[in-house]
Amino acid sequence: MNRLTFLLTWTALTAVCASLGAQSAPQLREDNISEVMKAMTLEEKVKLLVGVGDEDFVDATAGHQKQFVAGAAGITCAIPRLGIPSTLFTDGPAGVHIDSVREGTDRRFFATGFPVASCLASTWNTALVEDVGRAIGNETLEYGCDVLLGPGMNIHRNPLCGRNFEYYSEDPYVTGEIGTAMVRGIQSQGVGVSAKHYAVNSQETERTRVDEQLSERALREIYLRGFERMVRQARPWTIMSAYNRVNGVYAQCNKLLLTDILRDEWGFDGIVMTDWIGKRNDLPVEEAVKAGNELMMPGYPVQETDMLQAIRDGRLPIADVDRSVRRMLEYIVKTPRFRHYAYSDNPDRQAHAAITRQSGTEGMVLLKNNGVLPMQPAGNDTIALFGVNSYDFLSGGVGSGCVNVEKVVDMVSALQEQGFVTTPLLTDIYQKYVSYARVKLAIDKNPLMWFLDQGQPKLDEIEISERCIRHEAQQARAAIITIARQAGEGIDRQIEGEFTLTPLEQKLIAHVSDIFHEMKKPVLVVINSGSVIETVSWRDRVDAILMAWQPGQEGGNAVADILTGKANPSGRLTMTWPVSVYDHWSTRNFPQDYDMYSYQRLESRNRPIKGVTYTRHEEGIYVGYRYFTTYNIPVAYPFGYGLSYTTFDYGKPSLKLRGDTVEVAITVTNSGSVEGKEVVQVYVNAPEGGLDKPAKELRAFAKTRMLRPGEKQNLVLKIAKSDLASYDEKQSAWVVTPGTYTFFTAANVEDIRGTATLNIK
Ligand code: BGC
Repeated sequence: MNRLTFLLTWTALTAVCASLGAQSAPQLREDNISEVMKAMTLEEKVKLLVGVGDEDFVDATAGHQKQFVAGAAGITCAIPRLGIPSTLFTDGPAGVHIDSVREGTDRRFFATGFPVASCLASTWNTALVEDVGRAIGNETLEYGCDVLLGPGMNIHRNPLCGRNFEYYSEDPYVTGEIGTAMVRGIQSQGVGVSAKHYAVNSQETERTRVDEQLSERALREIYLRGFERMVRQARPWTIMSAYNRVNGVYAQCNKLLLTDILRDEWGFDGIVMTDWIGKRNDLPVEEAVKAGNELMMPGYPVQETDMLQAIRDGRLPIADVDRSVRRMLEYIVKTPRFRHYAYSDNPDRQAHAAITRQSGTEGMVLLKNNGVLPMQPAGNDTIALFGVNSYDFLSGGVGSGCVNVEKVVDMVSALQEQGFVTTPLLTDIYQKYVSYARVKLAIDKNPLMWFLDQGQPKLDEIEISERCIRHEAQQARAAIITIARQAGEGIDRQIEGEFTLTPLEQKLIAHVSDIFHEMKKPVLVVINSGSVIETVSWRDRVDAILMAWQPGQEGGNAVADILTGKANPSGRLTMTWPVSVYDHWSTRNFPQDYDMYSYQRLESRNRPIKGVTYTRHEEGIYVGYRYFTTYNIPVAYPFGYGLSYTTFDYGKPSLKLRGDTVEVAITVTNSGSVEGKEVVQVYVNAPEGGLDKPAKELRAFAKTRMLRPGEKQNLVLKIAKSDLASYDEKQSAWVVTPGTYTFFTAANVEDIRGTATLNIK
């Protein structure tokens, strides 16, 4: 055999062996996970635990990637030799966040912008939220993704948190019930969720290192309770561990949170992925794996190298790696990508727009109405629309939580559709300004604020002269002023000009009200914001206030539905609206006016700063209404509040203990003259003698069906006895204090309509 023949024979033999080897390697199936694991090399195992991130990202930023679906947030590593595909994650939570533009095609890939979380929760309608979840899950599936990064399950500890719009409530029960509905809806489509940010991610300032210092009771009762309900009831595929620390330990390597509580107590059987971050010197990757965090996202090669080294040095037991790999494979076999699902890239966005309009409308909260609403077109149908966002309606927030929508319905076109015209001069001024300001902003924006580039930024307000207002008031039947706020991840809201009105907005409200009222014409305010703003200083000047939130891409239509009475408002607040932001106990320990892009940030690198690198939860469990009702602090609008165009009578509640469940039965009657829905809330006051308890805690709620005038509905609200428990740190246990419990049936936390008591042993 000459040298050439030898070489050829050798090459051929090697190729045959390699192909035999590949063929004999097991291919992943649902029932052969152990076999596949046996066939995996150590390097392959490690690859599976680290996402395929982009080398260029070095900080906590969205890991947008271009493989498979442009603009999706991240992917897991494929191991083709073993039939293991990549799986794909997309943000969340208000719809699928992918790029609308793709290389090599003129086609656009828009997703539906659904209402933000604070709006959805305000519907108090779990069936409707489940419908929205189904639609979001369907878009996730049809755009080729496997997991939607949401819902956001953090608690509104303080109105200044920049991401409150992505979260449901200040109350863990509401969070847990609405979260359950959303997860059920999304997962019903055969895709998964990543409920986030677990846990206590209550501020954005220095979110990647802030230490949230709180009692175990507050942790369990307020910050974990919502996650717990959702995990037990809806079995999410994945959970996202938060950036921050909790009592000194990063959430991402916190065994108490990730294993002892999440898995051992609540029975979670999915995977935990980190929120998007790179290598951190003070959080070795092996600590995350050991604590029960299966997947590092977006994932960097250095994390693989570190993990391999830790295994070789014996710092990371192989058993921990294997446990994580098994869970990853159990997750992968559930995904559409594993099933080779042939996605369409073409979800039914028309149907989803209809669900958006319905849920956006039902989430809106009517805060004030001096009898001027509803307002049907008759005689003079001309409206003067003030405020830039009447013409540039904000569909959702900015940052990873935004959705690239085709179009947001503004109020001009929506009102027109329902029989109103807007005054031509003002419309012209604002529409031209919006076009100009969009172009200007594109060049002026701060490149460091990458997240403001994602989604619809808020354009600056403009001054409208008194002469112009007078001119408009002569033509119009009423004025509508839209006050908008934009917020997003990475930055908290400022008090001045974000929680409170800017001087320009105050002036606009004052001048428009004075001039329109002089002519006996009403003034309405629409708030287009994902979270709470100050109202007490200006609300007496105007006739009606509608909290429209950021209700999704059908925004203008949903507002018009309420203003014209096509829909009767049935949204109720899931957070308290304080008189002043300083009324929240937590404000004392919350970062204020901290500019993370200035020298302060650099300065703070090596020293602890209150509210910035650590935040003490001095308020403990006294978050939101738990604080205001117990300490009798007046508020602007209480938790659970919202007006309707009709009235409801509440019958006397009756209580029954059936096994371990308290049943609260009540009849609700529509006593007004138009059809509508009511939200019945049950608050409980616990007996003395046990742990210190808030005056009232929400333990159940139900929304009626649409009731015609005079129509009644009997409701039975169920409360598990265990849900009356508080967490006793001394006993490390949930405890139901024996004694007499008072159950309040209420229209909001301050509007109690009935009381009944029950002795619980
Ligand atoms: C956010 C997450 C998001 C992730 C991926 C992070 O910056 O905190 O909520 O899911 O990016 O985009």
